[in-house]
Amino acid sequence: MTITVAGASGVVGRAVTRELVRLGHRPRVLVRPGSPNRDLSPDATVVECDLTDRAATLRALHGSDRLFLLTPFHPDQLVLQRNLIAASAEAGVGRVVKLSALGARPGAESSIHHQHGVGDDELRASGLPHAVLRPNAFMQNALQWLPTIRRSDAIVLPVGSARVSMIDVGDIGLAAATLLTSDAVGDYDLTGPEALTYREVASILSEVAGRRIRHVDAEPAEVAAAMRSAGIPDWAVAARLQLYATYRAGDAEVVTTAINDVTGRPPRDYRSFAADLAEPLRN
Ligand SMILES: NC(=O)c1ccc[n+]([C@@H]2O[C@H](COP(=O)([O-])OP(=O)(O)OC[C@H]3O[C@@H](n4cnc5c(N)ncnc54)[C@H](OP(=O)(O)O)[C@@H]3O)[C@@H](O)[C@H]2O)c1
Repeated sequence: MTITVAGASGVVGRAVTRELVRLGHRPRVLVRPGSPNRDLSPDATVVECDLTDRAATLRALHGSDRLFLLTPFHPDQLVLQRNLIAASAEAGVGRVVKLSALGARPGAESSIHHQHGVGDDELRASGLPHAVLRPNAFMQNALQWLPTIRRSDAIVLPVGSARVSMIDVGDIGLAAATLLTSDAVGDYDLTGPEALTYREVASILSEVAGRRIRHVDAEPAEVAAAMRSAGIPDWAVAARLQLYATYRAGDAEVVTTAINDVTGRPPRDYRSFAADLAEPLRN
């Protein structure tokens, strides 16, 4: 069985590839032409493909039996999803496992949730056998906070006292690999084992770092200005602020049993994840 992983060099794609190889598969991994991030696994075959290019996407999927459909955070993420869905149908891919996001729906105000919601519906309407993974925020997003933690011991996010049931990417990788190698269908809302406030997250990171790290609930406009001055484009700044608004509205606090149900083991908790950050937090 030939399983293809899109977005393979990213944080989730690497976890999916690792789990597929562990299960004894030799996946085909799609990487952007020229990407330096191709050191995935000696058991994976690298195929270059720009997902914005529909014809190239079709060529890349020829001969694939199953697809892990991951599209990057991108202004035209929906176009990339459409390219992969259309190419899957045309190339005769027999099963698609799509990475979406918790709360995705076509009518969402948040562009990330809107684009995933429309893409999920188009996959459902395509007739392709499929499963949709809807993970909450990744624990690994903490790596993006390292610059402000190093500068001022602060996690600066406009999320108030929102609770978020963050998930470890390794659990997403295992769930995806399990579903790619089974015939189970449906939607899976993937969360970690508990919903934490960012103050609680900061407290866990403080223990690991050996010094006090705070959550600073800055104004959205202030956070937007900081993102822009760090070179983040306007579309991405807007999408992130919309996402944080969904957290403040309580949309990310649900805790599900989906990881346990799919993989047969409990999801990793934040304390266990945070231990991996000991070195970067101390440097
Ligand atoms: N972060 C979260 O908390 C969260 C939560 C729920 C859902 N999600 C969803 O997760 C997805 C992102 O996953 P991720 O964090 O694993 O992504 P990521 O680490 O940013 O990786 C994305 C991958 O896509 C590749 N890529 C970018 N543009 C491409 C193109 N034009 N053609 C081919 N490949 C391209 C990148 O390759 P290069 O090596 O060339 O850069 C990279 O390997 C998004 O759909 C997002 O909505 C994220």
